[in-house]
Amino acid sequence: MTDTANSETSRYYAVHSEWKQDPEGFWAGLADAIDWVKPWDKVFDGEAGVYGRWFTGAQCNTCYNAVDRHVEAGRGQQDAIIYDSPITGRKRRITFAELLREVEALAAVLRDLGVEKGDRVLIYMPMVPEAAFAMLACARLGAVHSVVFGGFAAHELATRIDDCHPKVVISASCGIEPARQVPYKPLLDNAISMAKAKPAHCLVLEREEHPYDLEPGRDVDYAASVWAHMEAGTKVPCVPVEATDPLYILYTSGTTGQPKGVVRDNGGHMVALNWSMDALYGVKPGEVFWAASDVGWVVGHSYIVYAPLIYGATTILFEGKPVGTPDAGTFWRIIEEYKVASLFTAPTAFRAIKKEDPKGEFIPKYDLSGLRSLFLAGERADPDTIKWAQEKLGVPVIDHWWQTETGWAIAGNPLGLGALPVKIGSPTVAMPGYDVQIIDDAGHPVAPGTLGNIVVKLPLPPSCLPTLWNADERFRSAYLDEFPGYYKTSDAGYMDEDGYLFIMARTDDIINVAGHRLSTGAMEEVIAGHPDVAECAVIGIADQLKGQLPAGFIVLNSGVDRSAEEIEKEVVKLVRDEIGPVAAFKIALTVGRLPKTRSGKILRGTMQKIADGEDWKMPATIDDPVILDEIGDTLKQRRVGQAAA
Ligand code: COA
Ligand code: AMP
Repeated sequence: MTDTANSETSRYYAVHSEWKQDPEGFWAGLADAIDWVKPWDKVFDGEAGVYGRWFTGAQCNTCYNAVDRHVEAGRGQQDAIIYDSPITGRKRRITFAELLREVEALAAVLRDLGVEKGDRVLIYMPMVPEAAFAMLACARLGAVHSVVFGGFAAHELATRIDDCHPKVVISASCGIEPARQVPYKPLLDNAISMAKAKPAHCLVLEREEHPYDLEPGRDVDYAASVWAHMEAGTKVPCVPVEATDPLYILYTSGTTGQPKGVVRDNGGHMVALNWSMDALYGVKPGEVFWAASDVGWVVGHSYIVYAPLIYGATTILFEGKPVGTPDAGTFWRIIEEYKVASLFTAPTAFRAIKKEDPKGEFIPKYDLSGLRSLFLAGERADPDTIKWAQEKLGVPVIDHWWQTETGWAIAGNPLGLGALPVKIGSPTVAMPGYDVQIIDDAGHPVAPGTLGNIVVKLPLPPSCLPTLWNADERFRSAYLDEFPGYYKTSDAGYMDEDGYLFIMARTDDIINVAGHRLSTGAMEEVIAGHPDVAECAVIGIADQLKGQLPAGFIVLNSGVDRSAEEIEKEVVKLVRDEIGPVAAFKIALTVGRLPKTRSGKILRGTMQKIADGEDWKMPATIDDPVILDEIGDTLKQRRVGQAAA
């Protein structure tokens, strides 16, 4: 990467050993950068919660740290949020002082609607500044928000409503995708009618692009109610919460159709995120940080909203796509226009740009001299993409690895501590705070360079999930039980002699489509609901643009006399209607039977290898080897996967 990358001059090893020798002292020191209402009794209480809790006894407010304190410290006129929406042509700069007014007024509206500390508020919004205001207004009141990505359909929304029982839903009249509008009202109405736990109110932001018919008694107009409190200058103090109280719940794909409600606390979250802006991203307060993601994902929570704002940086809220809004130069235009110091996105975004503009001809049209680094995460960063970005942008390209569960990077190349040499294909080293180990299925450590389960020795550092919402037992069984004393990441990989990590594959049914995490099990549950489907298997097959794409193999009930093509179309529609367009489920293939072991387990892994054109071995336990040939033939005939190459 850069000439300055050097393991001898980087402070990483010194900081890592400082943490290792005294984890509590280390985190207590970093906690000084946060404003607390009341200091902690214990930095870490190993007896509290499922595996211990950080900063027990402390009280704080995340909104105060992200907004008010910057105004009090004289940053009121600095841009807090820059909204840029090439999809609508709108732009807006919001200073910290304006952000405070917006958030306070919205908090007043929520308070009028009966929202109190500990209540849940579900946020189902497109990429508009009001989505960030909503998150911060909840934090101000000590209410717990749960943001649902706009690409999920009504059924997914209903599942989340039933899990977290929100008092209020904050939504908008529509989301806008390049080729279509996404009206939210039908989705919202449908979800609420499906859900058992009915929210008392929906606060709806009407966008110019799409009208919204308010449901009398239930719906409240966002603009009018917020305006009334702004006019009145209503003050809403920040409600002190315990550091261990939940700030938000973010649902992520689990191995069933029931998503997992990842809980984030207030205190530890602020400490870790604030430090990461400095140590990992190497950004200074007042600089512009851009995470080109969506507030519906963890990257959006951590690095569009909370980390930059808590740290006093300016964040960009971008409503557009890397290509097509209007062209593959959009990212460079934003970097120039707002003097972005560091960009964070998913490798898919760069693959999309590279596909559209392989020679990078848009790049020299813009002044990118302010850009110091590009961070990639959310999926494996393929070497071609990394090299293309390095060459075209001429800045360090940092792959870093994390999960919704952790809220910040488990492994990365800490630019702020001094860059380490890059090994392409590796997200570099474990961040201080994470004792990452590679173990075999029996729980024994493996030698460097040997593939195994990637686990983190407990306790997890601040900001990582303390549990799942209302589901301690599920938390234990999903993450802690298999390897006692460790958090199971469900990623497989290896560590080399230098401690560099290589993340190779998931060990569960999760696939990664355009940086979006999806469960094939959840898709199978939906497909199995089709009346003509006897059984099915969904696998993720390699895709040059999106990393992976789901492909469903379906076996029809005997006696079905409708055309397979018709049923396949219905299955595709079913997944889109039930899970949402984000599932990107477009490949359904009817087969005569599925390959299984003699005990009846479907051989998904072998099917995937066949589809990806990888080497595979005939599983010793296979029931009927001929079926694998049939799968290969179907893929070839339908020109799916490597068979189509
Ligand atoms: N609301 C409603 N629908 C949405 C949506 C939203 N917020 N986001 C995506 N969708 C829809 C898309 O319109 C698409 O619908 P279609 O099947 O009708 O075309 C579908 O969901 C699949 O979306 P996606 O997989 O994102 O594909 P895309 O072709 O729209 O865009 C990329 C591809 C690569 C440009 C885009 O995925 C991207 O920018 N990804 C990288 C950044 C990122 O968001 N990373 C996530 C975490 S860091
Ligand atoms: P999510 O919870 O949506 O952030 O997805 C987390 C998963 O995405 C991880 O468990 C990995 O499987 C994958 N992932 C995220 N970042 C990387 C990375 N840098 N390299 C490889 N895989 C990654």
